[in-house]
Amino acid sequence: MNPREFARRRRQLIRMMGRDTLAILPAAPPRLRNRDVQYPYRQDSDFYYLTGFGEPEAIALLLPGRGRGEYVLFCRERDAERETWDGARAGPARAVSEYGADEAFPIAAADDLVPRLLAGCERVYYTMGAHPEFDQRVVGWVTSLRAHGAGVQAPDQLVTLDHLLHDLRLYKSRDEAQAMRRAARIGMQAHRRAMAVCRPGLYEYQVEAEFLHEFRSHGARPSYLPIVGSGPNTCVLHYHANDRQLRDGDLLLVDAGCEYDYYASDITRTYPVNGRFTPEQRAIYEVVLEAHAAAIAAVGPGRSWGEPHDAAVRAVARGLRRLGLLDGTPASIVRSGSYKPFFMHRTGHWLGMDVHDVGDYKVADEWRVLEPGMALTVEPGIYIPEGMKGVPKQWWGIGVRIEDDVLVTADGAELLTADLPRDPDAIEALIGAMAA
Ligand code: GLY
Ligand code: MN
Ligand code: MN
Repeated sequence: MNPREFARRRRQLIRMMGRDTLAILPAAPPRLRNRDVQYPYRQDSDFYYLTGFGEPEAIALLLPGRGRGEYVLFCRERDAERETWDGARAGPARAVSEYGADEAFPIAAADDLVPRLLAGCERVYYTMGAHPEFDQRVVGWVTSLRAHGAGVQAPDQLVTLDHLLHDLRLYKSRDEAQAMRRAARIGMQAHRRAMAVCRPGLYEYQVEAEFLHEFRSHGARPSYLPIVGSGPNTCVLHYHANDRQLRDGDLLLVDAGCEYDYYASDITRTYPVNGRFTPEQRAIYEVVLEAHAAAIAAVGPGRSWGEPHDAAVRAVARGLRRLGLLDGTPASIVRSGSYKPFFMHRTGHWLGMDVHDVGDYKVADEWRVLEPGMALTVEPGIYIPEGMKGVPKQWWGIGVRIEDDVLVTADGAELLTADLPRDPDAIEALIGAMAA
């Protein structure tokens, strides 16, 4: 992403913060997976959004109106020996020359300098609880300043940064939309690849491997743990084991997306392992597809966040009634919630740097109105687990979700994942095209 984009974001936030305030953002801590093995390092989304700085052990400060610079970055110093083991560090000098900090200092100086920078500020923006180990340091800095007593003004308000920052993050800029298109494109290619190799006898993890190959081939990584569920596993919403063998006659539900340049895609397709839907599988699939189409049609500027979900629920109610799986009128099914054992999650979520992205869904107890730049998923589903009461056996083990990524535009919506087929005939034609 262009460094100017990060500078623009900082300017926007600084404008919202007001004078005599200071914002503190810590980098994500490295995390251990087992003993001395680390998880791949991923910078904190809020920190990266404002800095574009990917290293751990860093603290960003924003100080509106400060004469010597509004953006101060603390980061690791250059260290030839450590860099031999762990790779290059920017160091304070490059934090200024390449990352746009007005001033940068070694991270070891933070305990001394941050309290001094806090002096005279009335309000500190900091989000408590997101990095519990860091909370204590922030409290310590404020307390140490208070201990100085007369003559030093210590901040008397500690305010969460989330409201301002997450509202900014909700509206995607042109550069962000571009990164999301790229993440969507890589995700779609991976789904095509998985469909092409799919056949009975493979293991779910072998389908997962196609995603990892395609993602890494393009410099992307999974944006969440891929869900590759076959047969009864299609009905387990957060299935991650991915270790069952695909059988002839199964459905396969794959929910997998990637993160590219810190932006996520989130895509689900469901298809028959052998390339032909059974009549029951196709019937359920078509209901989900109708719900999906109805929800997409309800996305646009001026529509409310609740509309796509309500449209999907109505379509699911109509469809399940038509198939004889629910009694009553569609309206009574919606009113009573009797569809919920089949469709128990919402139709989508915000999408961005985090797969379940930040941003409020309600304002003053009302669903938010959609505006250009907001990005969301549309992902209705129907799940009929083995043994579901009141449902004839031929429907058991059918779980279907169709998930796409949508950007609200000035005159409607852009389907970021439009190029990945969802029509059942088109899907059938793709399955097993490359199977050995
Ligand atoms: N993959 C997580 C979700 O669909 O929300
Ligand atoms: Mn999703
Ligand atoms: Mn998903």
